[in-house]
Amino acid sequence: MKVTVVGAGNVGATAADVIAKKNFADEVVLIDIKEGLSEGKAMDIMQTAHMLNFDTTVTGVTNDYSKTANSQVIVITSGIPRKPGMSREDLIGTNAKIVKSVVDQAIKYSPDAIFIIISNPMDAMTYLTLKDSKLPRNRILGQGGMLDSSRFRYFLAQALTKAGYPATVTDVDGMVVGGHSDKTMVPLVSKATYRGIPVTDLLTAEQISEAVEATKVGGATLTKLLGTSAWYAPGAAAAAMVEAIALDAKKLIPCCVYLDGEYGEKDLCIGVPVILGKSGCEKIVEVKFSDEEKAKFDESVAAARDTNSKLGDALK
Ligand code: LAC
Repeated sequence: MKVTVVGAGNVGATAADVIAKKNFADEVVLIDIKEGLSEGKAMDIMQTAHMLNFDTTVTGVTNDYSKTANSQVIVITSGIPRKPGMSREDLIGTNAKIVKSVVDQAIKYSPDAIFIIISNPMDAMTYLTLKDSKLPRNRILGQGGMLDSSRFRYFLAQALTKAGYPATVTDVDGMVVGGHSDKTMVPLVSKATYRGIPVTDLLTAEQISEAVEATKVGGATLTKLLGTSAWYAPGAAAAAMVEAIALDAKKLIPCCVYLDGEYGEKDLCIGVPVILGKSGCEKIVEVKFSDEEKAKFDESVAAARDTNSKLGDALK
């Protein structure tokens, strides 16, 4: 399996690094417009192969898409990250142009690839990629739900531990749907469990609400601390999606996908639970939301439509 990661910034390089460490891919091509950046990062990653015992080859390329030919999965991280105080939506004008140009170039050399979009605002960039590429919807996925769900589990594990139920992240199950946006993502409290026990049995409404709010602003909190957006968890989330596709794992992972009637919505890309396998999105799983979750999901849909409306000329 050959994977291309477009953008050798923090998120792209981390995705390439984690994919290599997991040792399921034959080759990862890391491509960037900045001369030498991807070559340097690829070489650095390759020099960990001895210590970490992997056989994946990571190659760095400056802007030559012919080297990405016949990739089965293409991860797009290109574009500018947000700075403290910015929302993901503030990036739309700049990143729409960049993502569109990347998709157009990448698709020429890998017409059968599955695309995973990470560039922000991710839900709108996923919609743009779908419309621009005209590829079937199972092959266009946005990465947000995997990351946000991981953050949700982290904050729930902390809340449970504080409340007297010692929990590591792997003791907790939890999922986030809706848009990858500070205000409108929807952590599904009704589905969150601690070793099979609903967290609502163990935590107070206030403790749960704190974990939910921390999850929603998880990206912004890190942006404030780091001065730029996060990379370890976003990169690992992308790698986990690539792995599910590469191994045809049929894993249930929340992804941003195009809805065509599912959840009562049409013509937008937003985060919902999906079965990921070798064809990309193999099934959209429709789960029952609580009334509160449904109202929040509807708000998230409205916000995603509003952001899509700002794509303007990029959609032409
Ligand atoms: C985040 C960015 C990558 O949530 O969207 O950290």
